[in-house]
Amino acid sequence: FCSLRAQSLIDRQVDSLLSLMTVDEKVGQLVQYSGAPVQRETLVRQGRIGSFLNVLGANSTREVQRIAVEESRLKIPLIFGFDVIHGYRTTFPIPLATACSWDLDLIEKAERIAATEATAAGVHWTFSPMVDIARDPRWGRIAEGAGEDPYLGSAVAAARVRGFQGPDLKSPTSLLACAKHFAAYGGAEGGRDYNTVDISERTLREIYLPPFKAAVDAGAGSLMCSFNEIAGMPSSANRMLLTDILRGEWKFKGFVVSDWNSIGELLQHGVAADLKEAAILGLKAGVDMDMEADAYHNHLASALQEDRITASQLDEAVRRVLRVKFQLGLFENPYRNCDTDRERRDILTPEHREAARKTAQRSIVLLKNQNNVLPLKKELKTLAIIGPLADDKESPLGPWHAMGKPEDVISVLGGIKAKLGTGTKVLFTRGCEIEKPSMSGFTEALDLARQADVVVVVVGESGQMSGEAESRSNIGLPGSQEDLVRALHGTGKPVVVVLMNGRPLAVQWIAENVPSIVETWFLGVETGNAIADVLFGDYNPSGKLTTSFPRATGQVPIYYNHKNTGRPAVDSVKWTSKYLDLKNSPLYPFGYGLSYTSFSYLNLELSAKTLKPAESLLVSVTVKNTGNRSGEEVVQMYARDEVASVTRPVRELKGFQKISLAPGESKRVQFSLTPEDLTFYDRDMKWT
Ligand code: GLC
Repeated sequence: FCSLRAQSLIDRQVDSLLSLMTVDEKVGQLVQYSGAPVQRETLVRQGRIGSFLNVLGANSTREVQRIAVEESRLKIPLIFGFDVIHGYRTTFPIPLATACSWDLDLIEKAERIAATEATAAGVHWTFSPMVDIARDPRWGRIAEGAGEDPYLGSAVAAARVRGFQGPDLKSPTSLLACAKHFAAYGGAEGGRDYNTVDISERTLREIYLPPFKAAVDAGAGSLMCSFNEIAGMPSSANRMLLTDILRGEWKFKGFVVSDWNSIGELLQHGVAADLKEAAILGLKAGVDMDMEADAYHNHLASALQEDRITASQLDEAVRRVLRVKFQLGLFENPYRNCDTDRERRDILTPEHREAARKTAQRSIVLLKNQNNVLPLKKELKTLAIIGPLADDKESPLGPWHAMGKPEDVISVLGGIKAKLGTGTKVLFTRGCEIEKPSMSGFTEALDLARQADVVVVVVGESGQMSGEAESRSNIGLPGSQEDLVRALHGTGKPVVVVLMNGRPLAVQWIAENVPSIVETWFLGVETGNAIADVLFGDYNPSGKLTTSFPRATGQVPIYYNHKNTGRPAVDSVKWTSKYLDLKNSPLYPFGYGLSYTSFSYLNLELSAKTLKPAESLLVSVTVKNTGNRSGEEVVQMYARDEVASVTRPVRELKGFQKISLAPGESKRVQFSLTPEDLTFYDRDMKWT
């Protein structure tokens, strides 16, 4: 009731303010620019800018906010946005890594810390969570999301929104969330960034939209529309998406910001003849704020005069932006995030680093551990650490690392040395570069390997080979890294491969030949400590993949919730859907990850054989730790609709629970399955 009352009070405040605004002041609320606040002071004073991105710091934001709220006519506060994707200054693992923890509380806490730091530095709003489903690892932005599954992606999206915003938008540490990129940006053909997306409405609604709906239901205050078209209509001009679905069906009350100049790109898409037409298309579709296209700023007022947009269309966009500014408490306290004491006190604290280490440990996925080479013994006499990423302190920050700094990073080499003390002789050499092919360092690498009891080789991608505009046509290990691993394997020494990457990699040879492989993604400031914790058994790895690993680039796209086709692949039968030159299964599937202990599943039971519309059905299973050390297991429930009015995926995730078990301990795990879990769009696109 009180939130309803507060809402209607805010609506009254918004309407009374709106009634005082000139057209230029209204348009001003829909304009966002990046940086250069000093050069833009006049526009701020005129009330013709509503938001900045990339203006950071308690002092810098205070200076320009002062002009807006003390020198403009109506004193409307600015909202400051920034890309806080996986931490502000305390860099956490990339989102694709934290998703592998399957631990929603952990993910929420990580974003709560990111919000605490960002709001201490003047930021009100993050362009995050990125909730794009991605099925093609050639696409560099797969690193920024939660992987290929809508169910897990929805749970993670909601957890991240809760973490950023917290329980009260008016709290000084509440950071407005922005679910992006609406929508289906990850469906780019060929995994080529910004490329055409041509999918059915059924695929759009069943695969790509659910995480956005989850973010909206979790209370996300904003969305960002995407660069791409969907089946002929660019998102920035897509009324079905931004109005019919987002506002009509989902009742979203927040506002939509464009992506960087995505309104201007309607000209390149070929749906707008000029910037004015693009501005009109954007506003009428439901894009409320124009990031850096200069389209709204230059053309909305004249479009109104020419009756090409209506006053109510303009007012509705302004209302949405003002409503969120009121909800954030910016009118009452425009300087809420401009506290230099907080900025000094709340950023990169030991507690935040400790949380980053814990999150990083749980984001690591153990892919292989033959002959139990891992965990390594701390009493090792000589350990060789080899590879171009072993001492790298920049790459572990990964793409979109906000204010993260290399000097804050514990490298793999640093973490292992800190763990081992002086008892073990640690040898190190890079052996080769990340991208530039060269074997000149192999001699030294092999020499060190021969002196060692175990070889840890750290290979993968640089931190800037994934993220935006980082699509790769070949997702094998870059440069001479695989040759380096082959050469080290040839010494006969036990080799542990540590992968550091922002996307699934086609590492079939390594998977078939190297005894131990650990997927560590980009783990942020505590990279080295977390990896050392896992390599030496101080933390038993519990991560599970959220994207399938292909055997080769040519196998892409490959994802677990695929359709059966009329000729499902059988490797031994020619006339089935497969390639001639490799197995049809993924190298590592969605949901996969090993542990230093083992688990068995017993007594799977359903509470009933049928499920009626108003009922729910209990699915129970006993999980037992059959190994000799404690561990965590992610119990996953999948469903399949074997005969329906349309083809259905061979498996769909419908539930998961992460549990801890001591050696020998069993737990009965229960899931409730409801008709809603089994609903889908039938032949007539009816939600059935
Ligand atoms: C970029 C990205 C988007 C980001 C925005 C602001 O082009 O597509 O994810 O939030 O611009 O930096």
